[in-house]
Amino acid sequence: MDHASHSTLNPAGAAAEQISQLFYWMLAGGIVIWGVVVGLAVYAIFVRKEHPLRMTRALVIGGGAVIPTVTLSGLMAYSLSIMPELHRPAPDGSLTIRVSGVRWWWRVEYLTDDGEVEFETANEIRLPVDRPVEFKLVSEDVIHAFWIPALGGKMDMIPGRENRLRLDPTKVGTYGGVCAEYCGTAHAQMMFRVIVSDEQEFDAWRRQQRSDAIIEPAPNPFGRQVFWRRGCPACHTIRGTEADGSVGPDLTHFGSRMTIGAGILPNESDALKRWIVRTHRVKPGVEMPGFESLINAPEELDALVAYLEALR
Ligand code: CUA
Repeated sequence: MDHASHSTLNPAGAAAEQISQLFYWMLAGGIVIWGVVVGLAVYAIFVRKEHPLRMTRALVIGGGAVIPTVTLSGLMAYSLSIMPELHRPAPDGSLTIRVSGVRWWWRVEYLTDDGEVEFETANEIRLPVDRPVEFKLVSEDVIHAFWIPALGGKMDMIPGRENRLRLDPTKVGTYGGVCAEYCGTAHAQMMFRVIVSDEQEFDAWRRQQRSDAIIEPAPNPFGRQVFWRRGCPACHTIRGTEADGSVGPDLTHFGSRMTIGAGILPNESDALKRWIVRTHRVKPGVEMPGFESLINAPEELDALVAYLEALR
């Protein structure tokens, strides 16, 4: 599968940069305290002579109280000082995206300036580089947490509440996102991709996502028929067709996504077949029913997969 960075130490966003700097300062402070304490311990073990009382006091009070207090207070002041910056709201007119945590995937809605849904997608977020973005984070069931380690800090998604998170991507690339709050069986398989590109590429993608399904290379009537006959439209929407279920991910431009199953498999025919047939083995706990009977109908499975992959 593609390489998507999950590293907080390789920041690609303004907030992540500050958090990684904080990490290095904390590390340095920790090393100073550790060095002094271990140094004193070694000194006490090897230098076996009596000291004047004043020097003993100075060592105990200085090494045991003064140095840790000064170092830790300095680090705490620094960590508190960056918090307002990390929590400042996005400027008016920023790109706004609502992300809902759903057991165990992500509903992603791009909003217009008026707060209307422009289009919906799932498990994949595209962003333009060097432009602030505001996420409105909600949950449809239990508490989840939204985290893109390379771009910035995490934020809880709480039912009945809307939390906001501003991020500023600074580097083009593909990054991994995860759920950072235990939310049930498939918590560890609740992932997504974030693709940061230049403004032009982002605009082209946004235009394409806004449109109804584009079926390329060719319409596939048999695959479409299987999709209907097997009941997929009860849960999935394909805009531009009569499929309008909303329980599961919107599949309008499914073929253009990088992964399936909320970031767990590459979006390729063989993986998709496995996902449809062995759903519960691939992702235990998933709400989607498995379509094991399709093993005995390979021509149906092939057509269904070809139909889904052609949704661009
Ligand atoms: Cu959603 Cu853990």
